[in-house]
Amino acid sequence: MQHRMPLHDLPVSPLAHRERLFNPKTKSHHGEMINMEWGMKNRLSQLIQKDGKALFLPIDHGYFQGPTHCLEKPGETIKPIWQYADALMMTRGVLRNCIDPTIQKPIILRVSGAVTVVGEDLANESIVTSIQEILRLNAMAVSMSVFVGTKYENKSLTNLAKLVDYCEEYGIPVMAVTSVGRELEKREARYLALVARVSAEIGARVVKTYYCKEKFEKVIEGCPVPVVIAGGPKTETQLEVFEFVYDGMQKGAIGVNLGRNIWQTENPLASIRAIRAVVHEGYTPKEAQDLFEKVKAGKA
Ligand code: 5RP
Repeated sequence: MQHRMPLHDLPVSPLAHRERLFNPKTKSHHGEMINMEWGMKNRLSQLIQKDGKALFLPIDHGYFQGPTHCLEKPGETIKPIWQYADALMMTRGVLRNCIDPTIQKPIILRVSGAVTVVGEDLANESIVTSIQEILRLNAMAVSMSVFVGTKYENKSLTNLAKLVDYCEEYGIPVMAVTSVGRELEKREARYLALVARVSAEIGARVVKTYYCKEKFEKVIEGCPVPVVIAGGPKTETQLEVFEFVYDGMQKGAIGVNLGRNIWQTENPLASIRAIRAVVHEGYTPKEAQDLFEKVKAGKA
């Protein structure tokens, strides 16, 4: 197996992020707060694994685009693959109707929405789920979209601030799902770094961003909370995914929040197993591709 950059050479190592999150010195001496802190830490530790890394599997795309290709029946889609994820991300509607409540897997509840692909502006989201519902559904974290550089920037960031306020009260981490204006045009480090940092400043405990080839380490360096990479639209080849996940992790991301490039691929099981190997075992893109082929052939 080829060798990877040692953790201490990373701009911000996943382990450093984990240590910061779970540093006992951050404990408050106020009794009630210790409980709150315990809850927050417990939840984060179920999402971010002992190695400081994480693979989140989002199946929330229907919240604005309806029955997305390969996600028409979300419960069926994830059957062969959910066990390889560290957490699943979805809305309450899919959770209640499609997921077995005895599932032993942390849930990241998507709580922003009320916009659609045929509406006026996807950035005009609201918070659509109450804190009571978040607690009732036993969410391990919540997620919401943040749109910087749009007409609704202020609304979106204010929503984040409010969500952080009511979730922190109960020790529930908020993950900011960040995008910048017309997202594809602005997938540049300086914009991604801006929205990641702003989201962390407002109180997000984890930030999801897109990967960019140039200066991705700047996004990580400028963000004081752990960063996970989204997949975006399905790529031409599987290798491209392994490459950007590998590079993003070398540059300090703690993992992925990756959907379409798993469940829209020709072999979702082979995809998730190979991506998991990149995230948790440091497989190089080539090693991941080999594992992908083996799983596909039923040989691993
Ligand atoms: C959809 C989302 C997704 O969770 C996020 O974009 C990751 O999914 P994908 O890898 O398919 O881009 O927030 O709105």
